Amino acid sequence: MNRRQFLGTSTASLVAAAHPLLSRQTSSPDARIEILLDEPGATIAPEIYGHFVEHLGGTVYDGIWVGDNQTAIPHINGLRKELVEALRKVKPGMIRWPGGCFADQYDWRDGVGPRNKRPRRTNFWVDAQEWPAGANRRGPQAYEPNTFGTVEFARFCEQVGAQPYFAANVRSLPAQQLFQWIEYCNSPTGSTSLAEQRAADGHPDPLNVKLWGVGNESWGCGGNFEPEDYAAEFRRYTAWTPSYGVKTAFIGSGPNDDSFAWTRRAFAKLGHSGLDNMFGWAMHHYAWNASAHSHPEWYTSKGDALKFDASQYYSILRDAGDMDRLIRTHWDVMAESDPTHKVKLVVDEWGAWHASGTEPFPEALLGQQSTMRDAVVAGITLDTFNRHAEKVAMASVAQLVNDLQSLFFAHENRFCLTPTYHVFAMYAAHQTGRSIRSVVSTPDIHYTFDDRPAAIPGLSSSSSLKGATLTVTVTNPSIDTAKVSEIAIRGGRTQHISATVLAAPNVHAHNSFENPSSVEPNTTTLTAAGPVIEHTFPPASVTKFEVTIG
Ligand code: AHR
Repeated sequence: MNRRQFLGTSTASLVAAAHPLLSRQTSSPDARIEILLDEPGATIAPEIYGHFVEHLGGTVYDGIWVGDNQTAIPHINGLRKELVEALRKVKPGMIRWPGGCFADQYDWRDGVGPRNKRPRRTNFWVDAQEWPAGANRRGPQAYEPNTFGTVEFARFCEQVGAQPYFAANVRSLPAQQLFQWIEYCNSPTGSTSLAEQRAADGHPDPLNVKLWGVGNESWGCGGNFEPEDYAAEFRRYTAWTPSYGVKTAFIGSGPNDDSFAWTRRAFAKLGHSGLDNMFGWAMHHYAWNASAHSHPEWYTSKGDALKFDASQYYSILRDAGDMDRLIRTHWDVMAESDPTHKVKLVVDEWGAWHASGTEPFPEALLGQQSTMRDAVVAGITLDTFNRHAEKVAMASVAQLVNDLQSLFFAHENRFCLTPTYHVFAMYAAHQTGRSIRSVVSTPDIHYTFDDRPAAIPGLSSSSSLKGATLTVTVTNPSIDTAKVSEIAIRGGRTQHISATVLAAPNVHAHNSFENPSSVEPNTTTLTAAGPVIEHTFPPASVTKFEVTIG
């Protein structure tokens, strides 16, 4: 079974990490990174550092929304306070909501009006086979109470400083409901009945929502469309919507992974009217196959989130690294119909997706633990987006809390940060910087799976320049080998350098409610002169340098 069908219905011995200090190496380097300051590229959009919140498992209820009628969990108008404060620190560019597959069953009208009068509906995920044993399958994760609706989500975005990105229902609501949802969100105070409804819901001012997804995974749970049929729907849904002075940006439901035919056929059919109304083309790509694609079976090829050997570790990283090829190839295919690249790529679902079994609590459907392997996945992926800043306009990791590659675990009054959170905190420095070309020279990492040879790149990196600050991020994916490296900065003098390193003695290290600080970054500041930084990257580590250029 593949993911489309699914939606239609040892531990390796690890070498302790070398101490992550900048140091002068005596041996010759294993890797060289040349940063070419004279070759700036596009600006890295803050929206690349986006997040995804679906009404799925413990993401909304318990994760974000704890309710405003209780005192046991600190909250801001019902929003979990610890999560709001931690998320604000990583500068989330945007947040996508309410799904995912949930989006194409969601009627936004259920999530407005007095909270105690909102209808309870069956959630898309009610019959998922991944529900953990012992989960309460009668709660809000199975029967959606609609307590968290449009205004609650908008307030969440305001609290954390993110742009809202709404996914509209194409499979089961008419086009009229897209423009009426826009009317509810954006029409001026007092202008329409829906503006009055919004005011009664507690938000008299317009929400000014700019980003609108037109369906989700329309090739699967979003309607099982053929690409030509979806293109016709996109044209129809976007043919007219009110603007209220907000430049709406519509995002089309793009391909899964390497479904290049979906992109080619949809773009050919969108024509001028479709492409003119399209800001972004959404691609989804998860790193899920721990069997190195020797057995591409959706349910059985995933591996455990905590127990994995070196082959399974590298297989997930290989899947993550494939993002680079997917971006390049879809971009080229898009150019066949859109040669000026008016439409940008939006990777609005990405992350590691492991087998079920490590949920932080039973109602956290699709929840999974997050180790240093997941931090490496995040580093590789965010580096890829930074390097392709001219192509990728937005991206959202799946998902924010208690689900897949989450930044947080939250349950009742317990809360913790995952290693992925720390990667987002480190990489936030890239936002609004100009992407700078860098050249990485190091041998590939070779491994075997099922007695077959396989390889992944030996290091991943990206660089950006904002004012006089150069940010360089580097991920060493090797499970057991530190990399003695030279980072050469061409075209400028370095004055002040800080290095922040996320590493652990064991790649299986992770945080939990009981041990929330097992994995944390360490920052070292030093004053250095000269164009070359010498550094040893610990195994399975993510590093950020912030360099002041003189
Ligand atoms: O993120 C979980 C699910 O994965 C989403 O609902 C869907 O869009 C994707 O297949």
